[in-house]
Amino acid sequence: MLSTEPRKSHSGKDYLKKANLEQGKPSPNQSLVPLTAKINHRDCLEIGGCDLKTLIEQFGSPLYVLDEITLRTACRQYREAFNSYYQGNSQVIYASKAWSCLAIVSIVASEGLGFDVVSGGELYTTLKALETMGYTPEQIAQQIYFHGNNKSLEELKLALEVGCTIIVDNWLELETLTQLGKQTETKTIPILLRLTPGIECHTHEYIRTGHLDSKFGFDPNQLDAVFTYVSQQSCLDCRGLHAHIGSQIFEEQPHQDLGEVMTEWLKKGQNYGLVLSELNIGGGLGIRYTEDDDPPSIDQWVKGVSQAVMKACDSHQLPYPKLIAEPGRSLVGSACVTGYTIGSRKEIPELRTYIAVDGGMSDNPRPITYQSLYRVVVANRMSEPSTETVTIAGKHCESGDILVKNSQLPQTQPGDILVVMGTGAYNHSMASNYNRLPRPAAVLVKDGEANLIVERETYDDLIRQDQLPERLLS
Ligand code: LLP
Repeated sequence: MLSTEPRKSHSGKDYLKKANLEQGKPSPNQSLVPLTAKINHRDCLEIGGCDLKTLIEQFGSPLYVLDEITLRTACRQYREAFNSYYQGNSQVIYASKAWSCLAIVSIVASEGLGFDVVSGGELYTTLKALETMGYTPEQIAQQIYFHGNNKSLEELKLALEVGCTIIVDNWLELETLTQLGKQTETKTIPILLRLTPGIECHTHEYIRTGHLDSKFGFDPNQLDAVFTYVSQQSCLDCRGLHAHIGSQIFEEQPHQDLGEVMTEWLKKGQNYGLVLSELNIGGGLGIRYTEDDDPPSIDQWVKGVSQAVMKACDSHQLPYPKLIAEPGRSLVGSACVTGYTIGSRKEIPELRTYIAVDGGMSDNPRPITYQSLYRVVVANRMSEPSTETVTIAGKHCESGDILVKNSQLPQTQPGDILVVMGTGAYNHSMASNYNRLPRPAAVLVKDGEANLIVERETYDDLIRQDQLPERLLS
């Protein structure tokens, strides 16, 4: 939990010093700040060689600032770890629900990762980025896995057109795909089957149950029926199995257990004549939002999972399947910060001091939705010691719109730049226009260069879809 003890002598600079505890080859998901975070001669926070105050002057406020180096490092660490520890084929696919936009797809693709998409919109975004990069239709098909517990007919047809692998979630989808497959006849539809493995994760503990109350995937008790059905459909090319057990997980054991359980199911497929050569263990590795968070490194996580799967395969005398992982948060989460401009202040004597910023729950819905904790610094006062405990409030008409409670900060002034760390995953992707706030811009920073990757919405954007029926004007 967040300590309410003031750390009076600490400054943003002290915070940065201890933020990256790993020496040598830091794992981005263990770092409290983007890997390139520095303090410059103006005593200002710099990310990717760009001064946060200057970025806000140039691109406006609030602003998502995405550090290319951190994102690329995380992608590389996943790939390199699988290459070193797993003796079969492997593929890392980015769970694009964490943040889907053309620039991120193109960076992640250029690092050799594929994509998990969960809607027609994410599929379309990924498709457009890969086409623009010059990928062939065959390459695109190989890179994309399409998820979802209620895919529409339209979405399924788009997926078939793209030729990507469809991760089948339920009976209706299985039957719909069979019908669609019979209509085309010329080629088979690549699928994985999603199962609910009965491993339920909480952040620091997990339980295994026979049945799991989840809206996703087939109940493993139905495995025989599903395998029987799939083995009888010549239009379906069932390549393997998928499961995802949760997000922001710090323990390693659940994913290792998952690898073992799923290997048993792969083996079971043999009884039905199915050659299940792909094993997708989902995503879920956590990141460090605060000093109390202690996730394993990417390297350590991949090592544990790889060893567990190989061991289980050896004991079942199964060839090593293509092992797929689909991380989202641990790829992009620590790579981004959000810069806000500080505005009003309200002091309630002996109770609390509120400092308000120019965004809030519309650009970061995670505190109000999940009571998520974040760390902040004042970008233009990095060496100034913290002298007060303040609560950072958003500007929405909702009392719960609080970004960070009880944060120790130096004395601030309106116009100062407040930076919230770790906002790359599920911030932009879950942003809304609540109170008709235009969604912020996002910039990509590297080596002192900043490029706009998402434009700031305008008021005109806000009314673009509105229609005013003529009869209302009379
Ligand atoms: N694969 C599947 C099937 C998933 O459902 C998810 C996340 C992932 C992969 C990626 O998980 P990650 O590596 O990012 O933990 N909005 C919530 C998180 C929801 C996660 C949903 N599924 C949050 O802001 O914490």
